[in-house]
Amino acid sequence: MDRIRIVGGNELNGVIPISGAKNAALPLMIASLLTSDTLTLENVPHLADVELLLRILGNHGVDVSVNGRRERQDEGYSRTIHFTCRTIVDTTAPYELVSKMRASFWVIGPLLAREGRARVSLPGGCAIGTRPVDLFIEGLTALGATMEIDGGYINATAPKGGLIGGTYTFPKVSVGATHVMLMAASLARGTTVINNAAREPEVVDLANCLNAMGAKISGAGTSTITIEGVHSLSGARHRVLPDRIETGTYAMAVAMTGGDVTLEGTDFALLDTALEAVRRAGAEITVTPSGLRVVGHGNAIRPVDVVTEPYPGFPTDLQAQFMGLMTRANGVSHVTETIFENRFMHVQELARLGARITLSGQTARIEGVSRLRGAPVMATDLRASVSLVIAGLAAEGETTVSRVYHLDRGFERLEEKLTRCGAVVERITD
Ligand code: UD1
Repeated sequence: MDRIRIVGGNELNGVIPISGAKNAALPLMIASLLTSDTLTLENVPHLADVELLLRILGNHGVDVSVNGRRERQDEGYSRTIHFTCRTIVDTTAPYELVSKMRASFWVIGPLLAREGRARVSLPGGCAIGTRPVDLFIEGLTALGATMEIDGGYINATAPKGGLIGGTYTFPKVSVGATHVMLMAASLARGTTVINNAAREPEVVDLANCLNAMGAKISGAGTSTITIEGVHSLSGARHRVLPDRIETGTYAMAVAMTGGDVTLEGTDFALLDTALEAVRRAGAEITVTPSGLRVVGHGNAIRPVDVVTEPYPGFPTDLQAQFMGLMTRANGVSHVTETIFENRFMHVQELARLGARITLSGQTARIEGVSRLRGAPVMATDLRASVSLVIAGLAAEGETTVSRVYHLDRGFERLEEKLTRCGAVVERITD
């Protein structure tokens, strides 16, 4: 199993190209199930989760062609992919595939909308809490679907003639369930209103793509989204938005190690809450014509308290990385997790590097230390594992991170991007 070896202590200096967002690419790819025409997505990141979803979509009848050409001449590696689903050949999403990635459960929306039925395994994914599917069940039921759980699967059936527009108010904000409602309601008869919808940029990206395919969605990016159903959707060409989590991760890495890095191809507005927190911690962040410039001062990190919240709040997907940054702050900070109930698994691994963190319920108290020391650590989930990498970059000596398959799910060419900025990072394949 691969490991990543890091020799810490170097500043980061240079340019890091930001990839297309994993969390936007996945629902956009799934939207290809809604049409018999070709959906072309540009800037699709090269990640394990994307490859897995390509296989899953293939099972349902999506024909995939990758044009192989690199969009950038440097290490970007994002690709343009064409998806064509002339007919859906299978409405079942099996356990073996869905259990590997929670987002693949989202095929339930388009399968149900286009074929009137779907049999989808209950999901798996990162071990960061129970992550139930009650909101999907309630939401699709509001569109007239019958939802039954049977042997670890959900059997969803639309009424004769297809889904019917309805009103649904989410009791809790869910990104995935909002995506699914947008896709399902786009092909429903009549108008759907979703209240307390997720406002994440990835929801807006999906709505923009669906509208380019002929959907009639308004209000994406606000809490109330209205969808007027249409009879069918056509093909479109759409560019995946930049990855705000990758952007924030590298900004926090530079704040921690010190240095001067331009994050190319990204957009401050996608993550202003998180970047403001990094600024308060002492880094200088400026908007440049090509993206962002982050100047970090390494040893002069100020303690900052953050609380994770749905967008536009501080993202849960940057919580572990920010905690990594705070381990080196000059004082005490608090990080509170409100989205997932079991998302502190990085705490004990950060402690192996010398961090002083105590947990009380959903809040971590971090007492900054003047230095971290390298150690062997283990990646536990996608975002936790990258927090160990950035802590390793700022630690003295050698850190090895095992179970790096978690990183490969969400960070495109991580070692290469960091190495080009002066870090000592290498992958060890046993
Ligand atoms: C997406 C992101 C993930 C991010 C999360 C929150 C993708 C591929 N993944 O995950 O990186 O951490 O948003 O920003 O985009 N919940 C329920 N019932 C449901 C659905 C969700 O209780 O039916 C709960 C979850 O357990 C969690 C909260 O709602 O506590 C938010 O989850 P949700 O927004 O649905 O996360 P995902 O869409 O799975």
